[in-house]
Amino acid sequence: MCGIVGYVGLPTKTSGTHGALDVVLEGLRRLEYRGYDSAGVAVVSPAGVETRKKAGKLANLVTALEMDPLPAALTGIGHTRWATHGGPTDGNAHPHLADGDRLALIHNGIIENFAELRKELLAKGVVFRSETDTEVAAALLGDIYRGLHDAGTAGGDAAEGADLLTQAMRHACQRLEGAFTLLAVHADLPGVVVAARRNSPLVLGLGEGENFLGSDVSGFIDFTRRAVELGQDQIVTITPETHVITDFRGTPVQGREFTVDWDAAAAEKGGYPSFMEKEINDQPSAVADTLLGRADAAGRLTLDELRINPEELAQVSKIIVLACGTSAYAGQVAKYAIEHWCRIPVEVELSHEFRYRDPIVDAGTLVVSISQSGETMDTLMAVRYAKEQGAKTLSICNTNGSTIPRESDAVLYTHAGPEIAVASTKAFLAQITATYLLGLYLAQLRGNLFSGQIKDILADLGKIPAKIQDVLDRADHIKELARSMKDAESVLFLGRHVGYPVAMEGALKLKEIAYIHAEGFAAGELKHGPIALIDDGQPVFVVVPSPRGRHSLHSKVVSNIQEVRARGAKTLVIAEAGDEAVCDYAEFVFYVPETPTLLMPLLATVPLQIFACELATAKGYDVDQPRNLAKSVTVE
Ligand code: F6R
Repeated sequence: MCGIVGYVGLPTKTSGTHGALDVVLEGLRRLEYRGYDSAGVAVVSPAGVETRKKAGKLANLVTALEMDPLPAALTGIGHTRWATHGGPTDGNAHPHLADGDRLALIHNGIIENFAELRKELLAKGVVFRSETDTEVAAALLGDIYRGLHDAGTAGGDAAEGADLLTQAMRHACQRLEGAFTLLAVHADLPGVVVAARRNSPLVLGLGEGENFLGSDVSGFIDFTRRAVELGQDQIVTITPETHVITDFRGTPVQGREFTVDWDAAAAEKGGYPSFMEKEINDQPSAVADTLLGRADAAGRLTLDELRINPEELAQVSKIIVLACGTSAYAGQVAKYAIEHWCRIPVEVELSHEFRYRDPIVDAGTLVVSISQSGETMDTLMAVRYAKEQGAKTLSICNTNGSTIPRESDAVLYTHAGPEIAVASTKAFLAQITATYLLGLYLAQLRGNLFSGQIKDILADLGKIPAKIQDVLDRADHIKELARSMKDAESVLFLGRHVGYPVAMEGALKLKEIAYIHAEGFAAGELKHGPIALIDDGQPVFVVVPSPRGRHSLHSKVVSNIQEVRARGAKTLVIAEAGDEAVCDYAEFVFYVPETPTLLMPLLATVPLQIFACELATAKGYDVDQPRNLAKSVTVE
């Protein structure tokens, strides 16, 4: 977790529209979703390195800077923290200083051998002022830099000085174990930022007379669209006019340049009170954009972007979907569709569970990871493990240039645009859409479906954006219910078949942003235990499948509604338009437009997202930045 920004600019740049501090603060504002336990900045001016840092949200730092401004500077780094080692205090906030307060360092990740290094540095007389692993990394880097400097390794000019800090970073990285992105500045080197990455995200942004670093492209999207991917175990040194990338051994490396196609305005709230509400409302285009360009006029899927040989793909004997949280629920929806269309067994597993058992994976296995951020550490590690076992790996991801797609054999990007609210909404729908495309593509390659069938399903998918819009246009109905339930203490969600992952996603949304106890169950499980929870007035959402689909599936769920209602539950039903059968047993019904059962999650999820968002808002909570959570979980 944690958001990281770095900036260096020429005076013509920084004295014009923005100084280093403004650039860094703007980047932090966009990256705050990555952690909001504290925020801090350091700038390098002729007076040396100066920092300001504050526990709590970025706004606290901004206030502190107003009261105690920093000097004008051309070079700066900034950090927004999600605490791992050490509580969310001013002292534990980054940057951390070393080398007689001449070096400042920020960090995302976890240094696993920090205790051992700390002991070693304490023995050398280093005094620590925080409880963080980051300060240990700073002290180590400072110690190495001082050693190289005093040994006279470099000459006097700026390039050699930059080289010295880069060398020191290289040596430090060789001593560090764990996951880290590190950014360092030094008072000796105004106009230089040195960064390193191992298993934590970092992207380089290229400007004219200025360069940027960010945990992801939103860290500099306001200033440049030119970005460069950085690989694992690489170090980059930026000055206003240069960037040099090497590996940890010092061998030069060429990073892949790409253009950021996100619109900066897309990362703004667009008039909605919260990013979450905006992102819920963005869903018609998230689905439409994910479908765009993936089939030709004849209705044939053209996923040429996948880098796996189609013949090999057609031969896979098993699919394992790996993901966490909401993305894992998208995987569960995918299982129903892919098994139905392709007749390939699909297992869905939480990434962190997969790695620590002894999974059966071989060259015939296709591992499909699903990740909005592309940086979730649990999923990244699971993908690496699967690769080591010989599986083919395909990433479904929303973030271009992120680690998981880069390390996978193939990638199918979702085009939901930047998702800023911590609770995932539009990325979920886009992920489901992408898994449908993948399933149909596999069915096409393997001949499991006729071309006419694929064309029909694609046509149904093509109608989904307008149907989501129809749900959004009737949001008031569910919002009213949400406001009336603001004092609910527990809400249950039931579903069968594809309605089951929808029920779990509905419960997760409510837990994470409204802090209400919520559970999603497979409706068939009710009698095996959960029905004991039903008491007078217990709210229960039930996701009902289409009555036009398999009759027994629909009637079973209607029976489940009756069962909970008979025990006093307040039944809240999401059903398909025209399903009169549910009316007799429901206190509340929200109808979604007709659609084939397998595609229903793209519609039925939306009212549950709106419900959670409105209820949390009614309770006065910050729906974009719920407590204890961060957008991108880059630690295990
Ligand atoms: C819930 C939520 C999380 C993420 C999970 C995986 O709203 O956002 O459960 O879905 O942390 O994140 P990604 O998809 O980035 O791998």
